[in-house]
Amino acid sequence: MLWPLLVAFGLVARNVEATHTLRFACSQLVIERLDPLVNPGANPSPHMHQIVGGNAFNTTMDPALDIGDSSTCTTCSFSEDFSNYWTAVLYFRARNGTFKRVPQLANQNIETAEGGMTVYYISPDDRNSSLVAFQRGFRMLAGTAERRTRDSAFVNLFRCYDGYDEKMNYRPNPMGVAASDTTELPTRHCAGGVRVNTFFPTCWDGVNLDSPDHKTHVAYPVQGVFGNCPKSHPVEIPQVFIETIWDTGKFDQSLWPDDGSQPFVFSQGDPTGFGHHADYVFGWKGDSLQKAMDARCDVFDARPDPIIHPASECPQLRTQEQAVANECSKRQTAQEDIDAWIPTLPGGMPITYK
Ligand SMILES: *[C@@H]1O[C@H](CO)[C@@H](O)[C@H](O)[C@H]1NC(C)=O
Ligand SMILES: *[C@@H]1O[C@H](CO)[C@@H](O)[C@H](O)[C@H]1NC(C)=O
Ligand SMILES: *[C@@H]1O[C@H](CO)[C@@H](O)[C@H](O)[C@H]1NC(C)=O
Repeated sequence: MLWPLLVAFGLVARNVEATHTLRFACSQLVIERLDPLVNPGANPSPHMHQIVGGNAFNTTMDPALDIGDSSTCTTCSFSEDFSNYWTAVLYFRARNGTFKRVPQLANQNIETAEGGMTVYYISPDDRNSSLVAFQRGFRMLAGTAERRTRDSAFVNLFRCYDGYDEKMNYRPNPMGVAASDTTELPTRHCAGGVRVNTFFPTCWDGVNLDSPDHKTHVAYPVQGVFGNCPKSHPVEIPQVFIETIWDTGKFDQSLWPDDGSQPFVFSQGDPTGFGHHADYVFGWKGDSLQKAMDARCDVFDARPDPIIHPASECPQLRTQEQAVANECSKRQTAQEDIDAWIPTLPGGMPITYK
């Protein structure tokens, strides 16, 4: 186990055990107000999302649909992953009360198109674990959009960066700052951006591919990441988590409110970050993900540099050049200007503090 790197990826507070890490880039597919999981059929959905993955993403995504077969491209560097991953979007609120979308930054060397996300699938070291890598129609939700207070089990970890170099190596050195990670939006100015990791549950009831709240068919483990699923949800699934870096440094501190409070707010009206949430709709081709998980593919097995060559560690999977992945995009279905200064959050979402 490469403990310092796991710390870098934010797993420290999860009581780290030996694990294997599949890590890859997915660039931006589209930014729009759709949510086929929570608000299927609604065009537009209540709040703004940023979406990566396969281009079958749509207003409604029938669980019976084979997403792998109905997509023609994916923004992910593993070219058999047509899943969709999406989160809320961060906005800057200016002193005059208007809002502007905070753009995203690329991760260390592994993606280029408008930020996007870095996606992780962690598998347990224990080869006896019958890890089930999802199946067609599986979907889930991590976090609660309405939440504004600390949760007993954290879903999000935020990290404040002071800067980055031309290769998108972030300062301070990620290995040294885990202790300052927070489960809420940082309160200080982060000139190098704000990173947020959002963790999905790792235990499944083994029966339901979804549930009315998109949560109760899955559960967080009693402790740690693997080997401790509750009896109600006995089947281990990979630890999926996604990483986004918001370019908060674009908004100079001179533009911040006079009282020094942090001016960023998530698109569902959340100025705390406790309500940050992420959606997952499984869409890997055939059993490709299961094969990768069975092989315990691990980014840290890649040489010479696991951070720079993330796709080289898993011969079980097909890859595409990131430049090819970056060409995959989708026109907005819910059409709206996403880069204007706007008088309210998209959809008029009110900012709520509790
Ligand atoms: C989205 O769904 C609509 C209506 O079902 C369909 O006409 C359209 O082709 C779909 N778009 C994509 C990208 O699949
Ligand atoms: C509000 O403030 C922002 C940032 O200072 C500025 O760019 C924008 O033009 C202002 N909008 C209005 C309507 O004054
Ligand atoms: C895996 O199973 C084998 C055979 O039952 C057992 O000997 C071994 O201790 C198990 N390994 C772990 C890590 O539980």
